[in-house]
Amino acid sequence: MPKYAGLRASAWLLGLAPLAWTGFRFSTDALGANPIEAVLLWSGRSALILLLAGLAITPIRRFTGWNQIIKVRRTVGLFAFFYVTLHFLIYLGLDQGFAWSFIVEDVVARPFITSGFLGFLLLIPLAVTSTKGWIRRLGRRWQKLHRIVYPAAGLGVLHFYWKVKADTFWPLVALTILLVLLLARSPWRILKRASG
Ligand code: HEM
Repeated sequence: MPKYAGLRASAWLLGLAPLAWTGFRFSTDALGANPIEAVLLWSGRSALILLLAGLAITPIRRFTGWNQIIKVRRTVGLFAFFYVTLHFLIYLGLDQGFAWSFIVEDVVARPFITSGFLGFLLLIPLAVTSTKGWIRRLGRRWQKLHRIVYPAAGLGVLHFYWKVKADTFWPLVALTILLVLLLARSPWRILKRASG
């Protein structure tokens, strides 16, 4: 049995669950009157949940001492990127029908779309440099680069907040989780500095 097989299988299950659930709802005609909107919303939510889940892994490891959990951080992060990309492609193709001039105008003129687009752009270098080769090549710079995931997730939360307009409950829940995860980083950094 490969090392950490159960943990790795759980990460894959977590990552594939939204896709399987939507596939099931699609095949049973349960996506509602506007299936394009349904898959757009579903992929956006899945992306944000997995982004936050990926960010939670290091604090969970530090607070619980469960070191093996770090083995699935890359898988969870790449699944988050997979859903953001799918979300973007659904927007480009199914929602906008690849009407490029309209899409450019939408990205430039609507802050809600601009923030999502910027979040997506920030995630691209992180996905590209997630391989072992890039981790080795970048050395300590890799960790610095990958801190970009916090502003990327922040832009995702802002995008969600601007999208919902009145009912801000879930965007504020996402924002609270993101802030708690950011704060969870700080005590460790202060302790690390103090110990030399
Ligand atoms: C970090 C990147 C992104 C994240 C985390 C994200 C997340 C989300 C979330 C959570 C929603 C709302 C779901 C709901 O209301 O329940 C949403 C909606 C939406 N997103 Fe994104 N998104 C991202 C990037 C993008 C990009 C790049 C585009 C297109 C350029 C985009 C276009 C949309 C659209 C059009 C909707 C609204 C769908 C509707 O109301 O019918 N998103 N997104």
